[in-house]
Formats: sequence, structure tokens, C-alpha cells
Amino acid sequence: FVVDMDADAADKGAYPYYMLKEIDEQPAVMRRIVGQYFDQAGNPQVDEAILDALAKADHLYIIGAGTSYHAGLVGARMIEKYAHIPTTVHISSEFAYDHPMLSEHPFFLFLSQSGETADSRQVLVEVNENHWPSLTMTNVDKSTLSREATYTMLLHAGPEIAVASTKAYTAQIAVEAVLAKALGQFLKHPEADEFDLRSQLGMVANGMQAITDSKDDIEEIASRFLSKTRNAFYIGRAIDWSVSIEAALKLKEISYVQAEGFASGELKHGTIALIEDGTPVIGIITQDKTAGLTRSNLEETVARGANAITIVSRHLAQETDTIIIPDVDDNLTPLLSVVPAQLLAYYTSLGKGYDVDKPRNLAKSVTVM
Ligand code: G6P
Repeated sequence: FVVDMDADAADKGAYPYYMLKEIDEQPAVMRRIVGQYFDQAGNPQVDEAILDALAKADHLYIIGAGTSYHAGLVGARMIEKYAHIPTTVHISSEFAYDHPMLSEHPFFLFLSQSGETADSRQVLVEVNENHWPSLTMTNVDKSTLSREATYTMLLHAGPEIAVASTKAYTAQIAVEAVLAKALGQFLKHPEADEFDLRSQLGMVANGMQAITDSKDDIEEIASRFLSKTRNAFYIGRAIDWSVSIEAALKLKEISYVQAEGFASGELKHGTIALIEDGTPVIGIITQDKTAGLTRSNLEETVARGANAITIVSRHLAQETDTIIIPDVDDNLTPLLSVVPAQLLAYYTSLGKGYDVDKPRNLAKSVTVM
């Protein structure tokens, strides 16, 4: 049994599909989050009760499903970096039945666009039975996960109708960044003061706009490399790997290309055997520390016949790169690197004539376990 969101709640306007509209809305969502979560002086505004409760925790467990789980992978890095609280990210349907040994003072962060995912709620039920504190980040005020958690932070992304989640992913990362900075400042960690998140999110919004303005180029790449393939790989390391998993999910769910997001260093340990003539391998390259390594892993696939495509931050770009994205803070690169991947999935699906917004076998909100 599955529930679809009411498509009439938002107007598609001149857009052929909600997904494209929602991809295009991302710059505005970033600006809305800045408006909602920062004061005039540029300080993040997060309910002090949330910060107080988190400050008492010795471990943060982030729980989510699908794209929300992927957003958690990105956010965890910022919580650890700015707030110095050990953070791990868990798939809710796994955690509910097989969780690691918990710390003495756990705090649970639930990520859920809809606030209704049954797998995630199952974890929250156990959390509440144990009287552990929790926070739900959700797009839907008064949703089940929001009502049942101790605290709520809203994503302010506006209704997301397309089954493939786009603006909720980037909104979740942005709101996690707000929490990381606010908590880091609350705990008096100097690097949190130095993280100029408000202006960074402004740069992110402009960067997203620049990427969505170059749709024609991305459509062309989709039609050249992805329209006829049966499989594809996204590769990256560290934060770029986290995005590669989300990028692959987008391609799988709406274009039915069997896609995998892979830690690029792991390819040589088995998966590279799958590379054939013409297999598209998309490298995500945004970090100084790992750029050279991911590039050489990409070269190894090209030597076995792969078609290499790259999504690269400007300061790391080389002449042969495919898609060059603007530079932003190292922790926020997923907010930009995911956008070309969303568009590649969209145009691949569109080119094949599929119903982009309502892919087969999937629902927007899954209320069964
Ligand atoms: C469904 C949707 C996905 C979503 C996942 C989690 O499978 O199709 O797009 O990521 O549920 O949903 P949630 O509302 O909890 O973020």
C-alpha cells in the first residue's frame, strides 16, 4: 500500500514535468533557507532547546531512507567537522532490525522529505520507547515523523511532487549545514564561527542557477552517452562518493539504466570487470585531496573502453572535462555536483519517452515496511 502526494497542491506551470520544475527551484529554495534560518547579522537561528539537547549527546545517529539517507551521508561530515560530535548515518529499514551498539547518550536525527516513511518511523517508535531525544528534518510540517519526534526543523523546499527527489535532497543538506554551524558555535568551536554559511549558500544558489541555465548542454550529454546504455557508473571518493550514490539512484529510478555509485578506489577490486566498450563512467571531482586519484581511476576505466564523463569543480577543471561547476566551500560541493546528475537523469528519461514524474514501481511516499 503506497500513498502519493496530492499533485494538485503545486502547479507545474509551463514545465512538462514537476521534476524539471523542482530542479529549477533549487536556487530559490537555498535563498528561502537563508531567509528562514539566519538573522540579519548572518548568524544561524536554531531553537536553543535543540542545541542544548544535542550538546548533551555523545553520538548522533542520522536515520533516513533513499535520497534522505544520501543527504545524511553529506550532513554527517559537517556535524563532525563543526560540532565535533561523532555521527553515523543509517538506512532506516536496516537500523530498525539490526543496529550497532548504541552510545550512552544518543541523539537521533531523522531525515524525511515526506515525514511519513514507515521504515524511518519504525526506528522513531523505538527511540521514543527509550526516551531518547530526536529531531526530524522534514518538508512536511505536522507529518508523522515531525509530530512524534522531540523537535522539528523544516526544509522549506515547497511541495515536492516528482517521485525522484531533487530539491528536498539539497534542502536537507543545507539545513544540516545550518544545524552543524549553529551547534558548533553553541559548543564554541572556532571553525564553526569561520564557516561563512550564509554567504556560501548565496554562492550555491547562484551556482545552481548557472548549472540549470546550461540545460541544453546537459541534454546533449545525456543523449550522446546515456540514452542507449543499459548500465552506467558514477564514481568519486569521500564526499564525491556520497553524491555518486545519489546521482546513480536518480538515473536508476527514472531512466531504468542500471547505475551504480561507486567508491572509485574500490573499482579495481572487482567492479572494473564490468566495464565494456562504451560503458559510461561519470567521475565526480570536487576535492583537492582526491581529484588526482579519481582521475586516475577514471583513466583505468577508459583504458578498458569506458566513455568518461566528468563533473568537476572549476578550480580543478582540465580541458577535457565535460561539465564544469562553480567552486564553493568543500563541504557544500554536493549541492552543486548533484544538479548536473539530476538533469542527466531527467533528460535520459525524457529522451526515452518515460513518464519522468511517475516512474514504474515507485511511489513518492512509502508507508509500508
Ligand atoms: C521513497 C521516494 C524516495 C525517497 C524515499 C524516502 O522511496 O521515492 O524519493 O527518498 O521514499 O522518503 P522520505 O519522504 O522519508 O524522504
